[in-house]
Amino acid sequence: MESVKIALAKGRLAEDAVKMLESIGIKFKDYSPKSRKLIFVDDSEKIKLVFVKSADVPVYVEKGAVDMGVVGKDILMENKADVYEILNLNMGKCKMCVAGFNEYEFNTNKKLIVGTKYPNTAKNYFNKKGILSEVIKLGGSVELAPILGLSDVIVDIVETGRTLKENGLVVLEEMYDISARLIVNKVSLKTKSQNIERIIEGLESIV
Ligand code: PRP
Repeated sequence: MESVKIALAKGRLAEDAVKMLESIGIKFKDYSPKSRKLIFVDDSEKIKLVFVKSADVPVYVEKGAVDMGVVGKDILMENKADVYEILNLNMGKCKMCVAGFNEYEFNTNKKLIVGTKYPNTAKNYFNKKGILSEVIKLGGSVELAPILGLSDVIVDIVETGRTLKENGLVVLEEMYDISARLIVNKVSLKTKSQNIERIIEGLESIV
């Protein structure tokens, strides 16, 4: 029987996702968060976990290189992928926010400069609000952008709020609730339906 491959994002979501799989009986005895290995096989040798960059999870799933993936809604909103979004896993909860200096005032007469890892999401948001914006795409540590005068505000995910606080920034507007989603390749759902549905049902029963 062909194995079911699941892509997980390296980083904070991964550990919780592995725990969820373990709680429905899919165990990976070799897995450790510290390991540098990128592929793990479960103890029944029917399921493979592969670790990729979070933004790449939908790419691997859409192309069928893996059958399923766990990824944040922030990533799915930013780059549309042709996959089934099957389940809200109710973990990895955070908020997509506009952040900046306290008392920053939006001035509709002036173009708003926005630093972000999420250029499409940011652009669409400000367009809908009728605010003219220029979006600067950054790779990370976006909090630096307003501090160094690169942008007026940032659009980013906020979980505990610590990163903003420790860098002297505040949430100016909450945009969207974010959480991890289970996504499935459209062909795999037909060709490997039994195995995939068993996993979906298992996860559904615990979220
Ligand atoms: C995210 C986000 C913030 C931080 C928010 O970055 O971009 O910087 O987490 O979390 P907090 O509210 O709990 O402080 P991430 O750690 O994913 O990595 P990055 O530096 O690559 O953006």
